[in-house]
Amino acid sequence: ARITFIQPDGSRQVLESGEDETVMLVGVRHNVAKLPADCGGQLACASCMVEVAEPWRAAVGGPGLDEGDMIEDALGMRPPGRRLSCQVRITEALDGLEVRLPETQG
Ligand code: FES
Repeated sequence: ARITFIQPDGSRQVLESGEDETVMLVGVRHNVAKLPADCGGQLACASCMVEVAEPWRAAVGGPGLDEGDMIEDALGMRPPGRRLSCQVRITEALDGLEVRLPETQG
């Protein structure tokens, strides 16, 4: 599937995912900025946060229980569309997905 990563300055990287990858793994594999993903996908760092572009939020779905708690711990709130990208598994249904990287991350 094709995933677009959008930086705070508006620059875009369009990347192709492999089989059964998460959004985080695709970004890290291509050295996407603002995506440190310090814990390597263990749901322990919250430094893989992305904002799912509005049209994709229904398809991606909301955060899981622990994931939602971690987002709230990190931001003091749960803004719509925020996900930890290591918890977003890519399927063909997400082909064309767009995510924004937060200014404050990394
Ligand atoms: Fe650490 Fe996602 S990579 S929580």
